[in-house]
Amino acid sequence: MFDVVVLASGRGSNFAALRTAQMRGDLPICLRAVLSDKAKAPALDLARNAGVAALSLSPRDYADRASFDRALFARAAEFSPDLIVFAGYMRVIDAAVIEQWRGKAINIHPSLLPKYPGLHTHARALKAGDRVHGASVHFVTAELDGGPVIAQVELPIQTGDTADTLAARLLIREHQLLIAAIDLIAQGRIALGIDGVAFDGCMCRVPLKLTDNGTLSAS
Ligand code: GRF
Repeated sequence: MFDVVVLASGRGSNFAALRTAQMRGDLPICLRAVLSDKAKAPALDLARNAGVAALSLSPRDYADRASFDRALFARAAEFSPDLIVFAGYMRVIDAAVIEQWRGKAINIHPSLLPKYPGLHTHARALKAGDRVHGASVHFVTAELDGGPVIAQVELPIQTGDTADTLAARLLIREHQLLIAAIDLIAQGRIALGIDGVAFDGCMCRVPLKLTDNGTLSAS
């Protein structure tokens, strides 16, 4: 089985979506654990209620970022994950630590990267007057939201949208995007090569796109 550990700092809707897809038989993975930097993250309760291991470490208990990250990823490694999924995990990872997980850690980010790394992506898209917003799944590197992009979903911005309405509409598609990307990674069809993301053995010049029916397409 393809073992997955989720890192989450907050609400955990992405974890819940993965769990639902897994239970429906639509995602052939084993969710081994949810790890958090916040003891009160609702994602941890969702995991416990689902019978999935849940644990948190506090950055305050460690001297610096590197020692916290070493400890957190050592705990993650105990579950022997084939993939670590950052789903609303709000910390940048120490470069030496994340390098050990090169090609085995992905993040979901609510913008069409390279646009709008960091926070407040919906408000920034609205303020810029964008007509299309979206979300990206990318391999994690030490650069904030800066690793090679695997796949994206686009979402038209509607007249009257606020950051909240946009976020709510996008979240549904984010869940589909994350599930579809993990499915292809678990099947061995997506990997991180030396030059970037490979799909079915070919280098992707542009990110895969989520279609209306929830599959990823190279065109
Ligand atoms: C999602 O919007 C994700 O793109 C971003 O943080 C949010 C996490 O949501 N990185 P949740 O905690 O999975 O509900």
